[in-house]
Amino acid sequence: MAVKVVCYVRRRDPACATGSVEARGGQGWDCFEVEVEEGSTVLDVLRAISRQDPTLAHTTHHCKTGICGGCTLQVNGRQRLACRTLASEHMRLEPAPGLPLIKDLLVDLLPLQRKGLPQRREAH
Ligand code: FES
Repeated sequence: MAVKVVCYVRRRDPACATGSVEARGGQGWDCFEVEVEEGSTVLDVLRAISRQDPTLAHTTHHCKTGICGGCTLQVNGRQRLACRTLASEHMRLEPAPGLPLIKDLLVDLLPLQRKGLPQRREAH
């Protein structure tokens, strides 16, 4: 069964490139209404939104198993993995805090990956 999701997405383009964010000085909130299957994740919602607005930047990681951490973002003010978080009917999505913003919900994960590397090396 399909459910309707209303989603406010924080838009910001530090480079102020193209798209609707440009008219607002490169930042603001966009509201999207999408239909997804019941039990869908936030990542499913992001993909549905991307079909409406291909300019929305979000994760480029697709492990969908909660391992890579590439889909980290804030859902209603709480840090979550988009691939492991069930979508709710009303959501507010923002980029993960404390990481360099590339555009919209897409952040540079390199600082996190660099922190993780020494731990992985010690484990071997
Ligand atoms: S897509 Fe890898 S943790 Fe979510």
